[in-house]
Amino acid sequence: MEKKWWQEAIVYQVYPRSFQDSNDDGIGDIRGIIQRLPYLKTLGIDVIWLSPIYQSPNDDNGYDISDYQAIQPEYGTMADFNTLLKEAHRLGLKLMMDLVVNHTSDEHFWFKESRKAKDNPYRDYYIWKDAKNGEVPNNWASDFGGSAWAWDAVTQQYYLHLFSKKQPDLNWDNPKVRAEIYQMMTWWLEKGVDGFRMDVINLISKDQKFPNDPNVNYQNHSSSMEMAANGPKVHHYLKEMNEKVLSKFDIITVGETPGVTIEEAKLYAGFESNELQMIFQFEHAVIDDSTEGLGKWSNRRADLVELKQILSKWQIGLHNEAWNSLYWNNHDRPRVVSRFGNDNEEYHNRSAKMLASTLHFMQGTPYIFQGEEIGMTNVAFDNIEDYQDLDTLNAYQDLVVEQKRLTHDEMLEYIHHSSRDNARTPMQWNNQQNAGFTNGRPWLEVNPNYDKINVEKALFNPTSIYYYYQKINQLRKEYPIIVYGDYELIDPDNSKTFVYRRKFNNQQLLVISNFTEETLETDYCNFDFESSKRLISNYSDDLGKTLRPYESKVYLIND
Ligand code: GLC
Ligand code: CA
Repeated sequence: MEKKWWQEAIVYQVYPRSFQDSNDDGIGDIRGIIQRLPYLKTLGIDVIWLSPIYQSPNDDNGYDISDYQAIQPEYGTMADFNTLLKEAHRLGLKLMMDLVVNHTSDEHFWFKESRKAKDNPYRDYYIWKDAKNGEVPNNWASDFGGSAWAWDAVTQQYYLHLFSKKQPDLNWDNPKVRAEIYQMMTWWLEKGVDGFRMDVINLISKDQKFPNDPNVNYQNHSSSMEMAANGPKVHHYLKEMNEKVLSKFDIITVGETPGVTIEEAKLYAGFESNELQMIFQFEHAVIDDSTEGLGKWSNRRADLVELKQILSKWQIGLHNEAWNSLYWNNHDRPRVVSRFGNDNEEYHNRSAKMLASTLHFMQGTPYIFQGEEIGMTNVAFDNIEDYQDLDTLNAYQDLVVEQKRLTHDEMLEYIHHSSRDNARTPMQWNNQQNAGFTNGRPWLEVNPNYDKINVEKALFNPTSIYYYYQKINQLRKEYPIIVYGDYELIDPDNSKTFVYRRKFNNQQLLVISNFTEETLETDYCNFDFESSKRLISNYSDDLGKTLRPYESKVYLIND
């Protein structure tokens, strides 16, 4: 296997709306990101993944794009973007753009034309169908609730939207659509951007028979994304995209691929497949979904044995054949320290570090989501009015107001646990007004714990989570075994510890984590300490076989 720079890189995701406001309108912006580039450089990351900054009516916070080649005015101008790119490059950081091409906004020029008339030249840019016996063309459900089809009164047909009504799906079977997208991608790459994170890219090819979804249940808030996932021509289109665009540049690409299996992943991200470099698989990200058919709306705690089994399956399944991405967090998921760790003050610091070690010593390209490096936690707003995410608001309306399946209090508890807004509260920079994010009114309230958890405090404290992430990032550069070693899970059935071994040439890496607040006696450290080195730990001393609450340690062993 030929080594690639993006295998050794560390990616940091910026969610622009919530990162740093520079003009006090309460909305993060590009100039704010520019101000914070030195902070990111110091953390030791290599690539910034920028969530969408394109022109958008903002129905889904920028994942509904009305012009792919214009900047959202609230984020700044194209000149600001050019400065960001230049400044990032000057600091040796790369910039990866979000590419949202499964759908556009309904306010995109193409869709505005498309909906005008059946014979409009843009009609076939989208997926239009006649009513079937006066009803929707099939039973597919939108990921944000309700049918995935919207009726258009003017032309008397339905259009498909796997997400909100304001996100009509593009028709990838139309070669003109593909040509436009490839041209737009090339335009960005020629401008100098360093790659793409591709939004729900495995949904782009729909089965033209549009079969009904056997598992659909609108009451259960289920989505029919799986019906569109890994469709008949998806690999053909990605190979074409690779040939026409991606292969001409030395860039990083990652596909967001809900419902992907190991076998499919090898096709998308296989070393020989000429499609993408890596993908985001979803299995561990949906591990605590509802068991009562309410999708992600639950307050379940993930089962550690299952979590280990999933992550290990991906480590082993792709080894030598394809490349993993490593992530706990993104803008769609609750905060990991609250989810798999412990955000009580006593264990917050140690459990956040333990989670970092557990994931970042695996094989794959690591992704850090803004705020993860200081252990930002879930938020618990008392009022539904304080939430902004359309997915959360739709689910509340559906499950509490309309179906009355959940009480307000039950749903609020689930929202506190699972809402996407957990990840989207403003970045906590300091203990000043609005956590230093803005001097105006933030678009989404800040998490009230910003006086305890913030960047300024972390930078002053040598044992902060921030410096732990920084150290891990340095270790990854120093020891090829972390990037390239193979993987073996130890003690798979243990429900309290996560232990694995990596091997590379004549070295071994042993990663040991206690996922509980108990002190455990183990026999994992039955090796000769003389020939080993403790690379990192969240306790200053080492009690050998005894693991203290949330203790995590990583040894390098020379055979
Ligand atoms: C992806 C994005 C999510 C968005 C959806 C529709 O899953 O990560 O934020 O809502 O696609 O674009
Ligand atoms: Ca602003």
